[in-house]
Parts: sequence; C-alpha cells; structure tokens
Amino acid sequence: MDRIQIRGGNRLNGEIRISGAKNAALPLMVASLLTDEPLTLASVPHLTDISQLAEILGGLGVEITMEGNGHNEGEVGRVLKLHAKTIKSTEAPYELVRKMRASFLVIGPLIARCHQAKVSLPGGCAIGTRPVDLHLKGLEAMGAEIELSEGYVIARAPKGLHGAHILFPFVSVGATENLMMAASLAKGTTVLENAASEPEVTDLGNCLLAMGARIEGLGTRTLRIEGVDRLHGARHTVLPDRIETGTYVMAVAATGGEVELLGTRSDLISSVIPLLKDAGVGIQPTNRGLRVSRNGAHYSGIEVTTEAYPGFPTDLQAQLMALMATANGVSRITETIFENRFMHVPELLRMGADITIDHQTATVRGVGRLRGAPVMATDLRASVSLIIAALAAEGETVVNRVYHLDRGFERIEEKLSSLGADIRRIKG
Ligand code: EPZ
Repeated sequence: MDRIQIRGGNRLNGEIRISGAKNAALPLMVASLLTDEPLTLASVPHLTDISQLAEILGGLGVEITMEGNGHNEGEVGRVLKLHAKTIKSTEAPYELVRKMRASFLVIGPLIARCHQAKVSLPGGCAIGTRPVDLHLKGLEAMGAEIELSEGYVIARAPKGLHGAHILFPFVSVGATENLMMAASLAKGTTVLENAASEPEVTDLGNCLLAMGARIEGLGTRTLRIEGVDRLHGARHTVLPDRIETGTYVMAVAATGGEVELLGTRSDLISSVIPLLKDAGVGIQPTNRGLRVSRNGAHYSGIEVTTEAYPGFPTDLQAQLMALMATANGVSRITETIFENRFMHVPELLRMGADITIDHQTATVRGVGRLRGAPVMATDLRASVSLIIAALAAEGETVVNRVYHLDRGFERIEEKLSSLGADIRRIKG
C-alpha cells in the first residue's frame, strides 16, 4: 500500500491548476444512462472513483472512450465520451457499489429509461451509516415499486415513472441528483422541495438542460422538473472542484506563502472566504482564479458549523481543523451532516494537536507547532487534512492508506511539490 512522506515547514509558493470536481463528474457520468446518444464530459479529473464508476457504467452497457486531455480547446483534465446506446444490464452488483456510494445514483436513470433496476444497497462507510431512504421514498412517490431483497434494491415501474411532489425532510445531495435525473424522463411534472442547491447539483442540472431536460429553479431549494419523452447527447465541462480549492486554500494558510489557484472561482467557496479572511488569511479573486496568501502574520481561531450549501461544507471540515490546530486561539467546529466525521482527530492528536470532542463539536486549542508522526486516515477528506497538518509540522510525517487520497485529489504530490513542499510517495 502506498504511503506519502512529508517533511514539513516549507512555505508554499507559485501556482497550480484546480481540477474538475469529483462530486460533479460522478453524477454527470451517470446522466449518460438517460440517453442513447453520446454525452461528452470535459475536465473530468483522473481519480480512482471515476475509474470505478466507469467500470460500473461499462457493466450496464455504457461505452466509454477518452477523447484526449482537451488542452487544445483550452480545457484541462480528461475528456470522456460516454455512450449508452443500449442498456445491456440493469443490475449494479454489490462488489462494485460497495466501493463507491455515488454509484447508487444509477438507480433513478435506470428506472426512468428501462423501467427496472436492481442495485445493491451501498452500506455504511467510515463517516457514517449513510442510508438511501430519501432516494427510495422519492422513487416510490414517482410510481416505482421497491422491494429490498438480499442487500439489493429491486425497483420496477412497468408503466414508467410519473411526476410527484416531493418534500425532503432534510437536504440530500445524492437524493436530489437521483430524483432530478429520474424526473427528467418521467411523465408529468416533479417538484423537489428542500432540494440540495450544491454547485455540483446545479452543474448536473445544467448538463441535463443541455441534453433537453426541462428544469427550473437550479441553484435554489425548489426544483421543478417537467419530464420529456427523450433526452439527447450533449457536451459539458465539469465545474472546478470547490473542495480541492478550499483544501489548497487551507494548505497555504497553514504553511504560509502565496499561491494562485488557477481555473477556480471564489463564489464556489463563498462560505470559506470571509471566515478565513476574518482569521487573518489573504484571499483575493484574480482573473485566472483565486490568490491565497499568508505572509508572516498569524491567524486566529474561528467558530463554524457544517451545513448544506451555501453553508460551510462538511467536506472541508477536517482540513479546517488541521489548519486551526496551529491557530493563535481557540476554534469550535461543529459537524452536523455526518455522525462520525471526526476520525482525523486522534491522528492530529498524535501530531501534538490539542482537540477535545463533545458530541458534534470539536474544540481546537491552537498550539505553536505540530510535530511529524506516522498517521493513518480512514476517509478521503481526513487523509488530506493530515497532509495539511504534515506540511505545517516540524519534522517528518508518513501518511498511510493513501488510496483514500487517490479517490479524490488529482496528482496531489505533484501539485504540492511544484509549490515547494517536500513530499513524496513511497510505493509498496
Ligand atoms: C455527497 O454525498 C457527497 N458525495 C459527499 O462527499 C458530501 O460529503 C455530501 O454530499 C454532503 O455534502 C458525492 O457527491 C459523491 P447527502 P451524499 O445525501 O449525496 C443523510 C466526499 O468526501 N441521508 O447529502 O451521499 C446522510 O447519511 C463525499 O467527497 C439520509 O439519511 O450526501 C447524511 O447524513 C463524502 N438518507 C446527510 O443525509 C438518504 O437517503 C447528507 O447526505 C440520503 C442521505
């Protein structure tokens, strides 16, 4: 299993390009199931989650080809062409779905297009139990008959799906995406209330619009989708990754230095910018992206609660905690989206952090400096928080179980070393 070795203490300086968003690319790839024409996606990041979903889609009959890296057209990242001319299977097996929860999103499009689907329940994961009840209730309201058998969801809609009025009891990114895709091919109008307004949901909605869907209210909490008989092919560029953006912002804030993040947008991290600016970190939009700097002056503690968009994202909570571990003052960080998302805390403690947890709230008392240590991470965002801590720490840190990082951060060692970090991957 690969490990990453970091010698901390170097400031980060220079510029790096932000990749396309993993959490937008995944549902966008699934949207290819909704049409028998090709869907071309540009700026798809090179990540193991993307290859795993490609494998699942391939099993359903989607032909996937790479059209090159898009540099000639001013695009970065890979260009993928996904063509679901015929769906040859409507079954997504446990062995593949359990590895990546986002693959559960195939259920809505499969029922909408083929009127049936058999998809493994994804199961829990390190950050929480993560049920899919909202996805299933929504599909039932749209006319699907759902049966749970031997760990699988078996869904049938012999007469096709119909529109429905669905009020989510709380915001779910995945359920909103699943039902928005299903509703695009359902008969009649579907209204999704208390829907997710995350930029990745809007990106999916914009791609569906380009495919001929009729959706109103993108970016708001109420979506109105008028079903159409068929969708057609389209070309769409994946939006920049706001979590990768925020992660590098926090890395530079932790180490000091000045870095321009190219190809990203400040509106994608609008909940993060004022918080860090108040704490003493410099962040300015530029015409190429965003510049982040911290030169000399120290930053203070903060108080924050994770929330659905446009609130502070749960996917940046661990990174913020690593940054605040060396702040000048006390921070209070409350996690409200997932019940078990503080697993980076024991590892940060091994590096000398002073953090206590009371239910959903972590109190982080800034210490002058963290010290390098061997650490291990249990999920993607926790892993990268340890990388941030290691970059700012004194001495050497070895981060184990790097496969988590490879799921969601494109070429992270390359990007960080180009900024001056002393970081290398140890194969094995
Ligand atoms: C998406 O997961 C992201 N994944 C997550 O990113 C992100 O943390 C999360 O949204 C919240 O922003 C992708 O986009 C692929 P939810 P998702 O449905 O859609 C509960 C990362 O590191 N819930 O919004 O699965 C659920 O358990 C990942 O990139 C139900 O109870 O999240 C959670 O507590 C991790 N029943 C809350 O809702 C349901 O049917 C929000 O989950 C669905 C969700």
